[in-house]
Amino acid sequence: MKVGVVGLGTMGAGIAQLCVEAGIDTVGREVTADLGAKGRDRIVHFLTRKVEKGQIESFDIDRLTVTTELAGLAECDVVVEAIVEELGPKRELFAELERICRPDTVLATNTSALSVTEIAAATSSPERVVGMHFFNPAPLMPLVEIVRAELTSDAAFDTAYALGETLGKHPIRCHDTPGFVVNRVLIPLLNDCVRVLDEARVGAEDLDAGMRHGAGWPMGPCELLDLVGIDVHVHASDALYDKLREPRMAAPPRLVAMANAGLLGRKSGRGFYTY
Ligand code: CAA
Repeated sequence: MKVGVVGLGTMGAGIAQLCVEAGIDTVGREVTADLGAKGRDRIVHFLTRKVEKGQIESFDIDRLTVTTELAGLAECDVVVEAIVEELGPKRELFAELERICRPDTVLATNTSALSVTEIAAATSSPERVVGMHFFNPAPLMPLVEIVRAELTSDAAFDTAYALGETLGKHPIRCHDTPGFVVNRVLIPLLNDCVRVLDEARVGAEDLDAGMRHGAGWPMGPCELLDLVGIDVHVHASDALYDKLREPRMAAPPRLVAMANAGLLGRKSGRGFYTY
């Protein structure tokens, strides 16, 4: 089996890491050689840590090929897309993947809040398009949502589900509704948490401690937003609000201001916390 991953950012690198760890031949595609090298370094770093901690015995990084050419994905059985969370670029990419890949290649998107059906509609073979939504950090979070779009075939769906299992994940089956299962619940919940900061005049640290110690969350909402990326969360909120028009789904002004100011969380060095 050969798996392609398009985009080696946080999510793509995490997904490619899972593939390498599972012993699968993996092709990672980035737009520049420099970004490709960064993705590869990230994968090597985390897999090396796992070896150091005795969680795995070894890994074979030669399973991973990094390329800037989409043509490098031609022989893949499954391609997982993890590029920028915008419909236009994703649709363009899927139309190109359809031209480049074999007719039986399953084309999966890791979108978190866009419509898989709308992405699939950019191809003339929407039956092979499916959602595979991993959670951040992909190597650590057990869940993957396998998303059936309007025209997804059983064969493509089953292939994606089986790949999720091969990668050691707990897959769940769902349909292409806004936010699928987890983000439909989590995004408005995190937005509520941010509104509470102002309503209850509580600081980020106390709110985080409240949700960790009072609700059993593994990390507080502000820590989690910093991990996910404030910009990513605002984007996902906008996409959900666009579709469902529920006020709780709209990004709170505080988060929009943070995103505009470049306070994106861990990746920019500052969000609710400073890193
Ligand atoms: N690959 C492998 N290992 C990684 C890693 C990665 N990408 N990132 C971090 N790690 C390792 C680190 O190396 C670290 O170990 P060392 O410090 O020894 O090197 C280890 O993982 C993390 O150690 P922690 O003690 O911090 O781990 P933890 O037990 O606290 O768990 C967590 C961390 C799994 C992130 C946990 O805090 C958690 O479950 N948080 C909630 C995360 C969550 O809710 N994610 C969903 C976000 S929403 C989303 O993703 C949806 C969307 O569409 C935007």
